[in-house]
Amino acid sequence: MENGVNLYHNAAFLYDFDNRDIVQADIPFYLDYAAKYPGYILELACGTGRVSIALAQNGHKIFGLDLSDSMLEQFSAKLMSQPKTVQDNIWIEKHDMSSFQLDREFSLIIIPFRSFQCLTTEETQRSCLKCVHEHLRDDGVFIINTFRPYKKLDETWVYPEAVQWETVDEKTGNKIVKKHRGPRIDVANQIIYPEMIYQITEPEGQVFETRDPLELKYYYYDQLKDLLESSGFEIKEEFGYYDKRSIDDGGEFIFVCGKKQ
Ligand SMILES: C[S@@+](CC[C@H](N)C(=O)[O-])C[C@H]1O[C@@H](n2cnc3c(N)ncnc32)[C@H](O)[C@@H]1O
Repeated sequence: MENGVNLYHNAAFLYDFDNRDIVQADIPFYLDYAAKYPGYILELACGTGRVSIALAQNGHKIFGLDLSDSMLEQFSAKLMSQPKTVQDNIWIEKHDMSSFQLDREFSLIIIPFRSFQCLTTEETQRSCLKCVHEHLRDDGVFIINTFRPYKKLDETWVYPEAVQWETVDEKTGNKIVKKHRGPRIDVANQIIYPEMIYQITEPEGQVFETRDPLELKYYYYDQLKDLLESSGFEIKEEFGYYDKRSIDDGGEFIFVCGKKQ
């Protein structure tokens, strides 16, 4: 259900100011798989089109689905300034990734940047994977990414407000500081409740703040692997980061899956 959690309603317009390595390193990774699996691509939880637009700029045809009006508005606005050839490669629709029906199969389906973790119940996770399975070509691949918990998480995960990144908007001169805090964890159900906080300081010194809540399911390696395998997928490759390092050696779980034959 759409209740604002995980949908970036307040800060969608600031989302693309994030320029950390993790939102740059994944682009060549997805371009690589798009070239290896030619055909239509589906990006679930496409957000502002960060990945979709890069794929379309490289000639790929991509459908982007997201549940957030604010993120999709950003995506549409960005698309307006793209050449027609890029615009013609992209279709955007508002859908819940746990329940969608498109009249098409895809050779590549991706859920980048940990977005699958926005689904916090087993029902929605399994329903999303069922939809992915139904829309994936028999010879296609599905790529899913979640963060790797740095340890067995417990109440010590809770943390106070801390700066994550900061930058200056060159157009306005505004300083943007992205902070986050982790006020609550549900260890039994493996859900964390971080809050994203954006502080904007205008050149004249006026300060604004906006906040968006997140609820994210976290997985340990065997749990995510079991969930995928019991949903009809086989894991073809697994990596710990977008530079394709070993799964044991990174902060991410990245699984490249095919349909179980
Ligand atoms: C971390 S952002 C990732 C956006 C984009 N894929 C990227 O990599 O930059 C998570 C996205 O998931 C979307 N989202 C959250 N829950 C969703 C759901 N149930 N169905 C579809 N999109 C959802 C949010 O609106 C947001 O755009």
